[in-house]
Amino acid sequence: MTQSTGQGSLDWSIQPPYLHPDYKSTVKRAPKELLIPMVQTLSELTGPVYGTGDLKLLDNDLTRNAVVNGEPLGERIIVTGRVLDEGNRPVPNALVEVWQANACGRYIHKVDQHDAPLDPNFLGAGRVLTDKNGEYRFTTIKPGAYPWGNHDNAWRPPHIHFSVFGTNFLSRLVTQMFFPGDPLLALDPIYNGIPDENARQRLISTYAHDVTQPVWALGYRFDIVLAGNRQTPFEK
Ligand SMILES: [Fe+2]
Repeated sequence: MTQSTGQGSLDWSIQPPYLHPDYKSTVKRAPKELLIPMVQTLSELTGPVYGTGDLKLLDNDLTRNAVVNGEPLGERIIVTGRVLDEGNRPVPNALVEVWQANACGRYIHKVDQHDAPLDPNFLGAGRVLTDKNGEYRFTTIKPGAYPWGNHDNAWRPPHIHFSVFGTNFLSRLVTQMFFPGDPLLALDPIYNGIPDENARQRLISTYAHDVTQPVWALGYRFDIVLAGNRQTPFEK
């Protein structure tokens, strides 16, 4: 079954439902009425989008973009991949933004009161545009797991939040990237809210030894598909 959202159609056999009671926040925020599709007018389709001039050199290096007095602590990693359209074609000039917890599983946000240290040299946010091959690349620190109040002894598996803008401001995909072999995935109601096993697997990055740099950082690959039957599941 598909439903038009104004951002294209969502395939509910692979996308998590708005209401998924195991994920408690969805009970309050899931829409109770039918969605009203937003019509894409000329101004939205032709309005300004990000260009290379809006980005700074270190925006895609989270190990350096917030340094105060030293390097951030934790395991340095490289995350790269391609943004693809429904025809498996690369999407160049797509704005890819990421945000994440630090190595100890703590976000720089006043609502995050997890009893774990902040890192003065790590902001946990970055952005980059895909190149002509649809590729993006970040250097960052592997995020830690963190507890949350969803249920007793609940822990989020380490993850990186991704937002991708396509060709205009109305085509946006927000999702989470996970790490391979993580035992917390089987217990995570957000990950398991995705109804299809293959679709869930698409949110798990793969370890990529060709991306790994000797004596520097481990590499992971994570492709994002904006539409079609291989669409990357959204975060709800
Ligand atoms: Fe998170």
